[in-house]
Amino acid sequence: RHGRTDGARGLRFTPVAPNEHDTVTVPAGHAQSVVIRWGEPILRGAPDFDPERQSARAQSGQFGYNNDFLSLLPLRGEHGRQVMVANHEYTTETLMFRDYDPENPTREQVEIAWAAHGLSVVVVEERRRSGALAPVPRHRLNRRITATTPFRITGPAAGAPLLRTGADPSGTRALGTFNNCAGGTTPWGTTLHGEENINIYFANGSRPTDQRYGIAPGATERKWERFDQRFDVAREPNEAHRFGWVVELDPFDPDSVPRKRTALGRFKHEGAQPRLTDDGRPVVYMGDDERFEYFYKFVSSQRMMRGTSRAAREHNLTLLDEGTLYVAKLTGDSPGEIDGSGRHPADGEFDGAGEWIPLATGEVSHVPGMTAEEVYVFTRLAADRAGATKMDRPEDVEPSPRTGRVYVALTNNTERGKPGKPGADEANPRVLNKHGQILELAEERDDPARERFAWRLFLVAGDPADPATYFAGFPKERVSPISCPDNVAFDPHGNMWISTDGNKLGSNDGLFGVATRGERRGELKQFLTVPVGAETCGPVIQDRRVLVAVQHPGELDGASVENPASTWPDGPGRIVRPAVVAVWRTDGRDIGV
Ligand code: FEO
Ligand code: CA
Ligand code: CA
Ligand code: CA
Repeated sequence: RHGRTDGARGLRFTPVAPNEHDTVTVPAGHAQSVVIRWGEPILRGAPDFDPERQSARAQSGQFGYNNDFLSLLPLRGEHGRQVMVANHEYTTETLMFRDYDPENPTREQVEIAWAAHGLSVVVVEERRRSGALAPVPRHRLNRRITATTPFRITGPAAGAPLLRTGADPSGTRALGTFNNCAGGTTPWGTTLHGEENINIYFANGSRPTDQRYGIAPGATERKWERFDQRFDVAREPNEAHRFGWVVELDPFDPDSVPRKRTALGRFKHEGAQPRLTDDGRPVVYMGDDERFEYFYKFVSSQRMMRGTSRAAREHNLTLLDEGTLYVAKLTGDSPGEIDGSGRHPADGEFDGAGEWIPLATGEVSHVPGMTAEEVYVFTRLAADRAGATKMDRPEDVEPSPRTGRVYVALTNNTERGKPGKPGADEANPRVLNKHGQILELAEERDDPARERFAWRLFLVAGDPADPATYFAGFPKERVSPISCPDNVAFDPHGNMWISTDGNKLGSNDGLFGVATRGERRGELKQFLTVPVGAETCGPVIQDRRVLVAVQHPGELDGASVENPASTWPDGPGRIVRPAVVAVWRTDGRDIGV
């Protein structure tokens, strides 16, 4: 059925077929261009990118590496311009530096990596008569946040003994952010950024809490501990506790100090997307991306103030400091055993009831045997004690802005059902789960502050010919194959868009759109694929364009600068570069209508 352009409003395009091309492949009738690449100068004084003459000083004024989450915010008073905020999750040194010796990185290489991590704020401008966007270098809002930028630690665990270090006895001032994966955009005009796999930067973990967070004994892969002792747990035991938070940034104030919000707990944060209650309090949904980990929400006790007055902006920067942190527990309703095949259970649907278990409210712990400080810093341990449900790697958890239903991308879990590991349950119904699933959650009475919810699986990913797959009941001969859902976003029509990481069906990763309502609910269509070795990240779907972050192109085993697996985006002989891509319709009309 290729060539069909029917579909739900917003999804009327010819689906892209699975492929392994070293390019971004878009539907017929669409065009694309790179918005910005790793290394492009954005700050005043930063030089043009030169892969043979990199420096930490240059990188700290240039767009960072491995773009992941993207947010596009309206910029009042500057026609055709928007503010783009990007995460730079991590560095891939073998693809950045010629002659990189993993056993002996140089100080300059390490400092370049510090500067290539973090966040970028860059104003982008529309190009006339197309959907293309181009950076506006040296704009006053442009900013780089790196692994060494000063942050304030706020909320109920700020200043706690577990957060105090030799360099910061106050426990309230941290340097830098790293492994920022997905994120969110708040209704009060700030952005949220999850600190995910922070364990990989810290050497010599030895405590049970280190083990629970994956901070391993011995040296790290990047050897940062040789250049700054704060990355050595044996020498600075609490520094690692200052990472693994949700970061909040005000991109409209280039002098603002970004915050780490301890009220939202510490784990391997993927995204953080808020929804307001009817009385204006933000509820933030969050995933902890690891096999058999949990998903969470934070319910603020404070109401958002409308408007952009100074008083409103200052007040709204306190919203994520006071409230209750919850973890999800799910119960299936099907009689009998879930057999692990993924085939539908006796009552016809993978579904059931759920409860949000409170872990802490402000300085009050709800977990017996743990103080509030411990609940926030060691949230995984608190959730273990609370009896939360162990999920198949919760990546993005996002509420639909149209319906309030919450979608949990469970990317995969190849360990489920192995000896000594948890077996299948109704929300995680496949053992050795390679392809993942997406769960749909409806809060009781559609109130995100409630403590009960109903849930069902919306999508069980894989090859539609596989009887274990499920597309919300839509006829499977009319959907695209999908594997490993990771980030989700919503378009202006209310459709959900899903980007993938780690396709196990023999294709490159890609971006998909799916209707969540109406008679086409479950009709999944592939919109694009990304180059060899890349993950599709940060989708933003606007009326006129789709934006994706092409992360880690060419990252395959054994690949290096001399021996590249991808030459995207600039072609043979040029260094592979993570980059942001815009896609639009050549006829100038809105996407998918
Ligand atoms: Fe950084 Fe969970 O992907
Ligand atoms: Ca991710
Ligand atoms: Ca059921
Ligand atoms: Ca991922």
